Formats: sequence, structure tokens, C-alpha cells
Amino acid sequence: MFIDSHAHIQLSQFNGDRDAVLKRSHEAEISTILVIGFDMETSLGAVELAEKHTHIYATVGMHPHDAKDLTPDILKTFRKFAAHPKVIALGEMGLDYYRNLSPRPLQKEAFEKQLDLAEELQMPIIIHNRDAYMDILPILEARQGRIQGVLHCFTGDVELMHRSLAIGFHIGIGGIVTYPNAKDIQAVAQEVPEDRLLIETDCPWLAPQFRRGKRNEPAYVRAVAEKIAELRRTSIETVGKVTTRNFQKLFLEKLP
Ligand code: NI
Repeated sequence: MFIDSHAHIQLSQFNGDRDAVLKRSHEAEISTILVIGFDMETSLGAVELAEKHTHIYATVGMHPHDAKDLTPDILKTFRKFAAHPKVIALGEMGLDYYRNLSPRPLQKEAFEKQLDLAEELQMPIIIHNRDAYMDILPILEARQGRIQGVLHCFTGDVELMHRSLAIGFHIGIGGIVTYPNAKDIQAVAQEVPEDRLLIETDCPWLAPQFRRGKRNEPAYVRAVAEKIAELRRTSIETVGKVTTRNFQKLFLEKLP
């Protein structure tokens, strides 16, 4: 059994064949899918999907791209959603210094506000980071012990992995690990402690090598697990088992 810990199957890219996509994920032994919101509309879409399917959970949050849109009203709505039994984390939130679609000071402000909410509600968080480790890690370090979560689609090197682990975070590995030139991420996948590893697709984006450039979907998280198993010289079943256990512990059991 495998869990896709980061999917966006609420998006319109899946409107034509969402049921077929879910059927294929079932056939590929994907037991659970965490559907990630990244603004108001996609957060709502995630909750709606989670209400329809027992094996789907949802998150609500504001992506750094849209940080400028995080009004007090939207934050209030996220707070309301957070009480929903199928909403198990906040995010994705974080910093994106690659595309800079919101000004950096506004990105930081929206990030801190969502971190405050996560701390208050004791909910785990999904972190988006692009070219911003130098700012994200100190922000998380300042709250060490009071927050938990995953650095999704981890793209740092082993040194950044160790810093993230020291804060208590999990490492989310996605399809990039299957790309032949992704040496840093492959090294991370090899060295991350077994109890901090999560697998994800980030679909519809970042399809693994065998589908690279095409639409990604939850079933393909198997290809991620397979590559990690090869790198760690273990079985795909073991990767499935430990990442499922980690997911349950982080998201489905109450935080301390
Ligand atoms: Ni995402």
C-alpha cells in the first residue's frame, strides 16, 4: 500500500477523467491521497473531494504565489475549514523566490500568519519552497518544537536535509527523484531516516521519468517508491510500509 501525500486532483486538468484516475490509483494500491489546497478555490475543491471519498483527505492554505490575496476573511475561512474532520493539515504555504509572483515581504507575512494558525490549532503543515531555504529554515527554526510538517517536493542537498530534520520536519520526495540528473535528491532519498520519509506526486505536475512532461497522477507515486527502494537497496513494499506509517503518525494521530 502507498500514500500520495501531495496531490492536486481537484484541478480542472482532472475534470474529464477524475473517476478513471481514482480507479487507476486504487488498482496501483494507493490507499490514501492527500489533496492539497493552495488558494481559496483549490482549498474548497480539496475539501469537496475529501467529503466524497473516504480515502481522500484535504488541506487548506495559501501558496506563496498568491500570498498577496491572503485577506483576514480568507484566513478566517481556513480556520473554519480546519475544524472539518477530513482537513488534516494547513498549506501549502511557504516562500517561492524563483517565480516571485507575490512580493517577498508579503510572502513572509502570509507564511507567518498561517504558521501562527497552525501553531494555535496544533495542525501539521505542508511547506512549499523554491530557492528560499535561506529564509524558510530560520523561520521554522524559530518555531521549533511548536510546529510539525513536511517540506514537500524536497529539492535541497543532504546538508539542508539535516537542518530540516533537526527542526523535526519530514522530507517529501516526489517524481524528480526518478530523473537521471537529480543527484542531490537521490542522495537525500538514500540518507533520509526511515521515520521521516514521505512520498508524493504533486500531480498534475512533476511526472516521474517514464511519463516526464505529461500529466502526473496519484498512481505514479509507485514509480517514486520504486526509485527510492532501488536507492536504499530495499523493497518497494518496505518503502510503502514505512511511508504509510509516517503519514499516519504525522497527519492522522493527534499532535503531542
Ligand atoms: Ni503542490
